[in-house]
Amino acid sequence: MWHAGAMTEAVLLVGGQGTRLRPLTINTPKPMLPVAGVPFTVHQITRARDAGVTRIVLGTSYKAEVFREFIDGSDLGIEIVIATEDEPLGTGGAIRHALPYLQSGPDDPVLIFNGDVLSGVDITGLVDHHARTGSDVTLYLTPVEDPRAYGLVPTDQHGRVTAFLEKPTHPHEIVTNNINAGCYVFRRSVIDAIPHGRVVSVERETFPGLLASGALVSGVVDSGYWLDLGTPLSFVQGSRDLVLGHAPSPAVPSRGDFLALDGASIAASAQVHGGTSVGRGAVIGEGAVVNGSVIFDGARIDAGALVRNSIVGVDAQVGADCVLDGAVIGDGAVIGAGNELLTGVRIWPGSQLAATTIRFSSDRS
Ligand code: GDD
Ligand code: MG
Repeated sequence: MWHAGAMTEAVLLVGGQGTRLRPLTINTPKPMLPVAGVPFTVHQITRARDAGVTRIVLGTSYKAEVFREFIDGSDLGIEIVIATEDEPLGTGGAIRHALPYLQSGPDDPVLIFNGDVLSGVDITGLVDHHARTGSDVTLYLTPVEDPRAYGLVPTDQHGRVTAFLEKPTHPHEIVTNNINAGCYVFRRSVIDAIPHGRVVSVERETFPGLLASGALVSGVVDSGYWLDLGTPLSFVQGSRDLVLGHAPSPAVPSRGDFLALDGASIAASAQVHGGTSVGRGAVIGEGAVVNGSVIFDGARIDAGALVRNSIVGVDAQVGADCVLDGAVIGDGAVIGAGNELLTGVRIWPGSQLAATTIRFSSDRS
C-alpha cells in the first residue's frame, strides 16, 4: 500500500512554438525569452523551488537545445532534468513523456505547469487542497472577463470539477468565467494512465476522460495575479509587472521604475520608466523616452526616439526620432531614423527599414 508523500517534483511544459510571439520566437523558444532580466522560465522554476520542489522535468520539444545550453539547475538551487520529445506530443503527451524521469511514488503529488503563465498562485495551498480532498487531479482556476480563449472549468459547490471545455466555440458552452490557469497537481498514477507515444491533449482528452470515468478532479479558484504571456502585449505587460513588483517572482534582479542589466547604458537626458527593462549592453540615446517596454541585450535606441509598450530584439537598432508603440522588432533589425511603427507591427529579424524624412509630431509625454 502506497501513501502519498510530499510534493517534491514538477513537470514544466515548455515545448510549444510560441507562434503568436513571432518573430521573437524564431530564434528563442518563448519560455527562454528574457523577462525582467532572466529567461521567463526561471521565474516559474524559482517559484516552484520556493514551494518545495527539488526536482523539475522540463518537457521540451521546439528548440530544446536552447534550454540545454542556458538552463542550469545548480545556479538555481534545484535539480533540472530536460526531457525532449522527438515530435511534439501535445500537453498530455508531454506529461506522459516526462514519467520515466520522475522519481515520485504512485500516490505522490506531482506539480505540472504551463510554461507561459505568470502567476502568484499559492502552490502550497493547491497541494494541501489536493491532499486534503484526496483528489486525483487538482486544478488552479482563475476568473477572467472573457474566457473563450482558454479552458473553461465549471465546479460544483464543493469545488469538484464538473466539466472541462477547451476553447469553446458555442455560446451555450460559456458556462463559467473560471478558466484553467495552467497549473495542476496530479496524483502520479494518473500520469501513468495517459497513453504513451502519441499526441495527447491534456485539456481535450485527459481531463474530459477523467471526468467521464468518475475520477475526483478538484478546482481551486485563486483570483490573485495571473497572466498568459502568449501575445506581444501580454509579454511586455508581464515583464513590466515583474519589474514594478506587481507580479511575484524571486528571480527579478531588482525592482523599481525600470531595470537596467549589467553593461546597459542610458543617456543622462533619456527617460526610462514604466517597468521597462534594458538588456545587457543595450544603449538608450539622449532624449529618448522608453516606457513599459522590453529592450533585449545589445539593442540600441537612438536619440529622441519614443518607445512605448514595445519589444526590441537582441542587437536591433531603433533610429533617432522613431516612434514605436506596441511594436515588436525582431533580433538584429535596423529601423532607420524617423519611422513610426504602431500597435501590431512586427519587424522580421535582420530586416532594414530606410530612414524617413517625415517627422511625426507625436505627444511625447
Ligand atoms: N513539451 C511540450 N510538447 N509542450 C507543449 C506542447 C508539446 O507538444 N504543446 C504545448 N506545450 C506547452 C506550451 O509550451 C505551453 O507552455 C503549454 O504547453 C500550454 O500550451 P499553449 O499552446 O500555451 O496553450 P494555450 O495557452 O492555448 O492554452 C492552455 O493554457 C491556458 C492558460 O494559459 C490550456 O491549458 C488552457 O486550458 C488554459 O486555459
Ligand atoms: Mg499559452
